[in-house]
Amino acid sequence: MRRFFFSLSLLFVFLLAAPVCQAKTGVLLAAFGSSLPEARKAYAAIEKAYARAFPASPLVWTYTSQKIRKKLRKQGEATYGIAEGLDKLAAEGADKVIIQSLHMTAGAEFAALARAALIYVVRHPGKFKAVYLGRPLLESDADAREVAKSALADLKNFRESGEAVVFMAHGNDTGRSDLTLQGAGAILGRNDNLAFLAGVEGSLNIDDVIEKLKQLKIRKVCLAPLMVVAGDHAVNDMAGDEDSWASRLRAAGFEVRVSLKGLGEIPAIADLFLKHSSAATDDLALEPIKP
Ligand code: CO
Repeated sequence: MRRFFFSLSLLFVFLLAAPVCQAKTGVLLAAFGSSLPEARKAYAAIEKAYARAFPASPLVWTYTSQKIRKKLRKQGEATYGIAEGLDKLAAEGADKVIIQSLHMTAGAEFAALARAALIYVVRHPGKFKAVYLGRPLLESDADAREVAKSALADLKNFRESGEAVVFMAHGNDTGRSDLTLQGAGAILGRNDNLAFLAGVEGSLNIDDVIEKLKQLKIRKVCLAPLMVVAGDHAVNDMAGDEDSWASRLRAAGFEVRVSLKGLGEIPAIADLFLKHSSAATDDLALEPIKP
């Protein structure tokens, strides 16, 4: 009998404590996604930084690329869409949510993420007390300065003297991120007059950079991704043996080395994403707050 009352009082304590325990902020880490295990080291590093900054919070990943999600599912890996990820956070007891974009710029992927987040909020009123959306990496001039500084510092020991560095950004066919990337490229060049930026897509063309390297009579070039992960684009389009930036530069007579390290592996970059998460204080469920 005594034991029964003891259990009953334990249950009572638990019930009292439960709402307090449940008052927690969940984080949805929303990256483009990659199916290359090597590339996902960068995601693991970002996750570690978030686990440290949000020790009591459930963390859930979502990949915004449907293609990658499909591929991973075929390989038997559980992946979540944006709505599924938010459902999972609710099931894990989160009552507020920060959706953190792990994209480089507010381009097409980020726009789709923001739209999916809003649709979710409209369809699930009251499911969370608040839903916040953290902005992508290159959001401001200060962000671009921080990214340029961190990316260049990280390559300091890797680069040889007199060796130029050409960063590969993603960009977008429609030109959506061109201006942001042009700004980032200018800041990289200001920090280091042998640093250049081009995109897989968009107006920042590798041909223009190759022309500039020739004019400057540079002989040695190192290639590095200006992307969160060193995924398919970095491995194949940048560093691959055929039809890549590396092969084109070599054909043009340059000595080429490649760095296959995603920006997410640099602690300062994970910190910048964290900064964007704490700056996200505008609840998507409410009318925009304007001073
Ligand atoms: Co792509």
